[in-house]
Amino acid sequence: MVIAVDGPAASGKGTIAKALASHYGLPHLDTGALYRAVALSIIRAGDDPADAEGAARHARMFGDDLLHDPDIRSRRTGAVASVVSAHGRVRDTLLARQRAFAAQPGGAVLDGRDIGTVIAPDAAAKLFVTAGIDERARRRTAELAARGHDAELEAVKTDLIARDERDRDRDVAPLRPAPGATILDTTALGIEDAVAAAIEAVEAAR
Ligand code: C5P
Repeated sequence: MVIAVDGPAASGKGTIAKALASHYGLPHLDTGALYRAVALSIIRAGDDPADAEGAARHARMFGDDLLHDPDIRSRRTGAVASVVSAHGRVRDTLLARQRAFAAQPGGAVLDGRDIGTVIAPDAAAKLFVTAGIDERARRRTAELAARGHDAELEAVKTDLIARDERDRDRDVAPLRPAPGATILDTTALGIEDAVAAAIEAVEAAR
């Protein structure tokens, strides 16, 4: 069984995807980490994220150690990730790895922006997780502070709005709910209630 979990930044999709993976005993892939690793590779090399061909080269070459580097969670890396993820050549390079993960026998849970629309359109269950911008900014600020990254609420909110716009307005794989996806608004839900609602939606879909 493949479960696709999409949604904007800090909507709760990562937490929900992890909880679903543990509930169903499935492997989980945070696909945002792939785009963040490409971004960090570019930042460290001092290269230009706007250069599509250069960014695609980083997407082909980055070392898997970057996926576990704490710096992939910084505000700057998140902002650069949303720039490099608009390049079709970067997305194409990362596509095979994500499709292979989804094709594992037994299934998988993947979270991102285009899992239900592009990576796994035949997923057994598709969730689109959202939350209001103020709540998302509050969550991301707390998360960044807990990881020791600089985090000021208004600045984080401005970043999130800019990333949402870039992710929605790009030509390739724009952020939008997949046909048939269940919309899950977590604004007023604690983690336990959000996970319970997600499990209910998966049970109804599969
Ligand atoms: O989910 P996360 O905030 O870690 O993703 C970082 C950036 O990577 C997003 O803003 C988005 O631009 C990009 N991304 C994407 N497609 C995915 C996952 C992430 O374009 N499947």
